[in-house]
Amino acid sequence: MRFLTAGDSHGEYLVGIIEGFPAGHRISIADIRRDLQRRRQSYGRSARQKIETDSVQIVSGLWKGKTTGAPLAILIQNLGRTVSGKPGGALGTVPRPGHADLPGALKYGLREVPPVSERASARSTALRVAIGSVAKSLLEDFSIDMLGHVTSIGGIDAQKGSRSIKTLRRKVARSPVYCGDKQAADRMIEVIREAKKSGDSLGGAIEVIATGVVPGLGTHVEWDRKLDGRLAGAMMSIQSVKAVEIGEGLECSRKKGFESHDAMYLDGGHVRRDTNHAGGIEGSMTNGEDIVVTLYAKPIPTSLKRLPSFNMKTLKPTKSPFVRSDVCVLPPLAVIAEAVMAWELLVAMTEKFGCDSVDEMTANYRSYVKQLRKRGMR
Ligand SMILES: Cc1cc2nc3c(=O)[nH]c(=O)nc-3n(C[C@H](O)[C@H](O)[C@H](O)COP(=O)(O)O)c2cc1C
Repeated sequence: MRFLTAGDSHGEYLVGIIEGFPAGHRISIADIRRDLQRRRQSYGRSARQKIETDSVQIVSGLWKGKTTGAPLAILIQNLGRTVSGKPGGALGTVPRPGHADLPGALKYGLREVPPVSERASARSTALRVAIGSVAKSLLEDFSIDMLGHVTSIGGIDAQKGSRSIKTLRRKVARSPVYCGDKQAADRMIEVIREAKKSGDSLGGAIEVIATGVVPGLGTHVEWDRKLDGRLAGAMMSIQSVKAVEIGEGLECSRKKGFESHDAMYLDGGHVRRDTNHAGGIEGSMTNGEDIVVTLYAKPIPTSLKRLPSFNMKTLKPTKSPFVRSDVCVLPPLAVIAEAVMAWELLVAMTEKFGCDSVDEMTANYRSYVKQLRKRGMR
């Protein structure tokens, strides 16, 4: 199973094609819309988000609302694209530090910024959210649930609270910055407001948790099929993400071995652990515990404090152009990372249980779970 995307930031459509999705799954456009809305609406985003209303449709691969096994083509129309006047807005021949502008122009022999920035823009993450939403809905049938939430913005860290996704989801839904710790969230809003006033931007961290995942997804046998590698690569490919941590990777690097690993015991036919330092992945495979991945994002590059750059045409120094911009993208990043986790887990599920039809996948899944039970290690 794979997907391809096309589309520009101010283009008429974003286009996604999923190939190899199992037949027989009912797709809900309302669910996709809900996730796209979560991506768009949060504190710290620019006025542009009100313009970028997402109109989503699936134009192939469905029969009577269910997948057929044929490629699924997802279209997101960019309804507000003309508001900026012309594609790329104010960007001309001055590359912005921190963006793809300069390396992209050099690599592809382009003389202006927009042909690069239009594609490099995080607008494309709308499509990854839509594709992830489709993946999430199939994972739900296998009792897999996941949530992305903000754990840090501008140096304000959330306290670790409940690990229950249901509890966390309720709290996150009430938070304008998608953070489960109300006190920290209030401070985050304050620092975003201050950054906006001073014309700056902020980075931070988000955590994605997935629960209900059976052990044995991914593999230890070959490097490019290792689940931790795939998850980290996929997460790093999201714009502005600069580091990815699985479980308590950073903390464990400073601890001794005995306190870093998760002791296990058998309890009535179940494998149990009291800790989850490994974040649900051992030897590049799921181990049955919750999967926990943390992403660290840099402050977005565009801000009113314009950094020095130069004009690619005149080769004269000048300041980086300012175009309407977000201040802090951590909340939407939580939604994007959740979608990315869903996709990678679904790929791993289909590799283990087949991807021609949901029925086949379900039968294989049940037989595997039965086998684990029989061995007394579910
Ligand atoms: C949801 C989202 C929205 C973003 N919005 C902006 C923005 O408005 N202005 C900006 O300069 N960067 C924004 N970024 C970050 C840039 O897209 C990103 O820094 C740039 O493409 C360079 O990629 P890199 O940071 O991965 O190196 C956004 C990132 C995300 C995830």
